[in-house]
Amino acid sequence: MYYKLAPSILAADFCNLGLEVSTVAQAGAEYIHLDVMDGAFVPSISFGMPVLKSLRPCTEAVFDVHMMVEDPGRYVADMKACGADIITVHAEACTHLDRVVNQIREQGCRAGVALNPATPIHVLDCVLDQLDMVLIMTVNPGFGGQKFIPYTLDKVRSLRERINRLGLKTDIQVDGGVSAANVRGIMEAGANVFVAGSAVFGGDAAAKTKEFIEIFKGYES
Ligand code: DX5
Ligand code: ZN
Repeated sequence: MYYKLAPSILAADFCNLGLEVSTVAQAGAEYIHLDVMDGAFVPSISFGMPVLKSLRPCTEAVFDVHMMVEDPGRYVADMKACGADIITVHAEACTHLDRVVNQIREQGCRAGVALNPATPIHVLDCVLDQLDMVLIMTVNPGFGGQKFIPYTLDKVRSLRERINRLGLKTDIQVDGGVSAANVRGIMEAGANVFVAGSAVFGGDAAAKTKEFIEIFKGYES
């Protein structure tokens, strides 16, 4: 298994975003997690296309765009144009999930679908083989700095079993309340892409990034 860190810039210093992004990328983060919030699907509003576009020249890291947006298909082409590599939409926000997943793939992006803590994994049964990544939310989306919800680990375990049984290579990403203190247990449950906001940008971002990468190395096979 190959593990990746996706620092969420929601917890970064917005006055110095370019520097924050290049710091974690240089320290070994392969993904930059960009939380787009619309104030409708989730209570808060974060940032959108202009911020992605401005950050794109700052790094070659993979732009992992988490769309907490109602009817996200409306913005797939725009996100691609602004530099998105992976576009993850919420199953709960898509009336026509199959169509949106296809839109993402047609744009040449990797497709992810996110599930809120209370959404069961079986809603993905019909599209799982079309996905590059499933994002299991480990907090209720909308804010950084929340506490990890333990029952979501069972979903990670069941999903990894299912992916293995079907012979798929789908990544499992977790997002919310992930830290160097709990990441080992989440890896053991079967996740391999880890979003971390406050755990990375809450202190020395380069050192925190390296701490995660060191933990990953101990598990890589
Ligand atoms: C929450 C966002 C997360 C958030 C994670 O809705 O999707 O990506 O930034 O922040 P932490 O790691 O602080 O829980
Ligand atoms: Zn996120």
